[in-house]
Amino acid sequence: MAQLSTFMFFSFVFVLVLVSPLSYGYDPLDPKGNITVTWDFIADNGDTYDVRVSIYNWQLYRHVEKPGWRLSWGWIGDEVIWSMSGAEAKEQGNCSRFKGQNKPHCCEKQPTIIDLMPGTPYNKQVPNCCKQGILSSLTQDPSHITSMFQMNYNKPSVPNPDNVTMPTNFSLGIHGYSCSEPIQVPSSRFTTDGRRWIEVLETWNVTCIYSQFLSSPAPKCCVSLSAFYSETIVPCPKCSCNCQGLPGSSCVNSDKAPSLLQLPKDDSTREIEPVVRCSEHMCPIRIHWHVKQSYTKYWRVKLTITNNNFVKNYSQWNLVLLHPNLQSLTQVFSFNYQPLRIFGDINDTAMFWGIKSYNDMLLTHGKNGNVQTEILLGKDAGIFTFNGGWGFPRTVLFNGDECVMPSPDNYPTLPNTASFLSSSSSLLFLSFVLSILL
Ligand SMILES: *[C@@H]1O[C@H](CO)[C@@H](O)[C@H](O)[C@H]1NC(C)=O
Ligand SMILES: *[C@@H]1O[C@H](CO)[C@@H](O)[C@H](O)[C@H]1NC(C)=O
Ligand SMILES: *[C@@H]1O[C@H](CO)[C@@H](O)[C@H](O)[C@H]1NC(C)=O
Ligand SMILES: *[C@@H]1O[C@H](CO)[C@@H](O)[C@H](O)[C@H]1NC(C)=O
Ligand SMILES: *[C@@H]1O[C@H](CO)[C@@H](O)[C@H](O)[C@H]1NC(C)=O
Ligand SMILES: *[C@@H]1O[C@H](CO)[C@@H](O)[C@H](O)[C@H]1NC(C)=O
Ligand SMILES: *[C@@H]1O[C@H](CO)[C@@H](O)[C@H](O)[C@H]1NC(C)=O
Repeated sequence: MAQLSTFMFFSFVFVLVLVSPLSYGYDPLDPKGNITVTWDFIADNGDTYDVRVSIYNWQLYRHVEKPGWRLSWGWIGDEVIWSMSGAEAKEQGNCSRFKGQNKPHCCEKQPTIIDLMPGTPYNKQVPNCCKQGILSSLTQDPSHITSMFQMNYNKPSVPNPDNVTMPTNFSLGIHGYSCSEPIQVPSSRFTTDGRRWIEVLETWNVTCIYSQFLSSPAPKCCVSLSAFYSETIVPCPKCSCNCQGLPGSSCVNSDKAPSLLQLPKDDSTREIEPVVRCSEHMCPIRIHWHVKQSYTKYWRVKLTITNNNFVKNYSQWNLVLLHPNLQSLTQVFSFNYQPLRIFGDINDTAMFWGIKSYNDMLLTHGKNGNVQTEILLGKDAGIFTFNGGWGFPRTVLFNGDECVMPSPDNYPTLPNTASFLSSSSSLLFLSFVLSILL
């Protein structure tokens, strides 16, 4: 009975996590996670301002990957950007009202700024610039969470008497993020050489928050499970990400040579729609958790991430796992690892990512893309059991998006608990319905 209640408890937690709130823009695994845009007025030149814009990724595990951020905003008046370094406006726009040789850098009412590529000539750079819009997550590489650029723009001809000319309608140009209006915050100060500090005139912050639901209501990954003690391999649930044959769904059979695929032209400022291998689940990414071995004091899990997307190499991929036994994680063989301490001492959540130049790039399906590792966990007295699906993860996220899990009543079971479990499945179902209602 104790086992049954354990199982019921975990399936309850599982369902709570599933129906829970990533979709409302609040992420329980990263409650403070956000991308902040900081707008520093460095100098007032009479008719123009010099401004430095910084983008900080304060998210524990979400990174910004290719094609990178594309920051935009709406000017309040007739501002134009005269010059910019460290980044550039995507379009110059209509600058015909300026006669003569000296045209502004950008005259758009709603400019879109893109980062410069690495290796940009030194005279166009500013510190922290030129990363193709790519930002690492706080856990993965805290030295690469910032992007900066500097610009000079004119004050509007009808000045706003109350405040400086802060634009509105900020957007990062990345699916899933929505940004607040700018708010004035205590002025920042900065240094370029580590010795002299420059006080800025005014600082405004814009906070952008990710919502998986805004990004796309359909999941992007799924989980399959197996264990040494069972013959059953539990596949990803059917239609996890899409259904084969539904209008709007498309997929490619794996026997088709990837060279025959019409690869979309990489214009490098556009996100590329996935082209997935045909499968029951239709997900671009599948995570497999295999309970591989049991020792006296330890147990071993093999993790495999498979890329079923023909048109994307996932660089700097990351995986977040939630399992109560991660507090006793003893060894991770082929990934980097760091616990995510969200609620003080409870370290049941961990982030994994690739080892540089070894498996930090998850290649496309066409290149047989998968990465794997084994992990060794200590059996915690009092909580460890192979019963009731305890050995399987509670939540799995790939690149910050929650993956679809199989239903707990399909989990591989210990041989001698098979009858026990089938007799309890109606109870389980009840606990499910109850938890969904709650
Ligand atoms: C954004 O992240 C920073 C750093 O974690 C945090 O201090 C700040 O409170 C967050 N802002 C919001 C609005 O959540
Ligand atoms: C901000 O966006 C709203 C809605 O898209 C639009 O009506 C408004 O004109 C925009 N304001 C500026 C200054 O771009
Ligand atoms: C550019 O703006 C001017 C007015 O400033 C207008 O007369 C002209 O038609 C615009 N050109 C285009 C291509 O929109
Ligand atoms: C700054 O100007 C904007 C646009 O006119 C206005 O909406 C906002 O309230 C002003 N802010 C302050 C602090 O006066
Ligand atoms: C404004 O943003 C910067 C950079 O993220 C942050 O350090 C600062 O604490 C923020 N200020 C406020 C008041 O949120
Ligand atoms: C993925 O990487 C491989 C090996 O570096 C390369 O050959 C392939 O063109 C890349 N595919 C895409 C879609 O970027
Ligand atoms: C988890 O936290 C406990 C106590 O805070 C600590 O003893 C243990 O080493 C941590 N485990 C890992 C894998 O970080």
